[in-house]
Amino acid sequence: MLQSKRILLIVAGGIAAYKSLELIRRLKERGASVRCVLTAAGAEFVTPLSLGALSEDKVYTDLFSLTDEAEMGHIELSRDADLLVVAPATANLIAKMAAGIADDLAATVLLATDKKVLIAPAMNVRMWEHAATRRNVACLEADGILCVGPETGAMACGEYGPGRMAEPADIIAAIEAALVNSGALSGTRVLVTSGPTYEPIDPVRFIGNRSSGKQGHAIATAFAQLGAHVTLVAGPTAEADPPGVTTIHVETAQQMLAACEATLPADVAICAAAVADWRVAKPAPEKIKKGASKNEPTLALVRNPDILANLSARKKDRPRLVIGFAAETEKVEQNAREKLARKQCDWILANDVSSKTGAFGGDSNTLHLFVAKPGGQAKVEHWPHLSKSAIAARLAERIATTLKTKPIKAKS
Ligand code: CTP
Repeated sequence: MLQSKRILLIVAGGIAAYKSLELIRRLKERGASVRCVLTAAGAEFVTPLSLGALSEDKVYTDLFSLTDEAEMGHIELSRDADLLVVAPATANLIAKMAAGIADDLAATVLLATDKKVLIAPAMNVRMWEHAATRRNVACLEADGILCVGPETGAMACGEYGPGRMAEPADIIAAIEAALVNSGALSGTRVLVTSGPTYEPIDPVRFIGNRSSGKQGHAIATAFAQLGAHVTLVAGPTAEADPPGVTTIHVETAQQMLAACEATLPADVAICAAAVADWRVAKPAPEKIKKGASKNEPTLALVRNPDILANLSARKKDRPRLVIGFAAETEKVEQNAREKLARKQCDWILANDVSSKTGAFGGDSNTLHLFVAKPGGQAKVEHWPHLSKSAIAARLAERIATTLKTKPIKAKS
């Protein structure tokens, strides 16, 4: 899959550097060539000898070595690569990249490159959540730098939270998405819904749900990375607008449907939003006061439009592929098959969101893809447990392959 691709792997100083050894092994297995740059701090965790033995190449460590500059200068190092991967990417190196500082070989190579760069951040949870790191990562994403992870889990420092470097399998998926299919969806119009909807009760209260929007936003990002023209219709979330994506912010299900309809025609529609099934029939124009009535208030609800079913049922401008999610707490397969038939979409990605899985709001998920077969039983593919960004990359690649076999006819 990565045959003859050239990866320049920059290993910075973090305990996760040990996973980079496994990453090199897996990249080599897939036919890639790997050349390593090791920072001074990185050399405290892994040795040049082990990186060199696995990559079967010289390891570059020192910006000011005249011999190295003569053999392979910092400009050539990036010129000679198809992709730069920083794993682990520490808070310090991320900060240097965001500020354009070039005070060692790794930072200089990163400043001197015009190639795609993928970072796999790894750090203590409080460093990851610090306002400076949030700013720096947002800055890198806005610069078009790709990011995989970090994952949430127990950390080497004994704490728990986001900051663990993505697993090598997830980094490989991100590398493949960045390299193998880059541009594979150029010219394809993709509509993605994401996040919850908020249905007003009065001007200050609403009915909502716990959807974080992480999966939908990751999908929009993955499609943009493959060159698609992506419109993201997003309910209220804490997620930043993905770079290179047209984002339309909405609150209610009715607004979400209107924004989707205004975006058509689209070639592919992916409904990842957790749309509220009901809304309050008559939201109060002013804040409902406790003392206004002796009785407890009751809310009369009406059914919201089903956006996925609506897009699937369209005649003239039905997207070529309409894809939904099925978030289930029980009987996942049975409910997914029923939903596929009821909503008349082409694919359903089903997952178990019962509290034991941590899928809702978490960073990873286990999905089952149900592909509708006209007149027959839907075919099911069980996907491994993956981070939400790896799921997004896999879905984007899967769709690129599907559209390649059945190309989209040009539409006006
Ligand atoms: N969906 C939608 N509009 C709605 C409700 C759901 O577009 N009003 C889409 C979701 O984005 C998702 C799929 O339909 O892709 C399934 O959503 P889910 O909440 O799992 O199913 P429901 O339709 O709400 O069915 P149920 O209440 O039986 O689970």
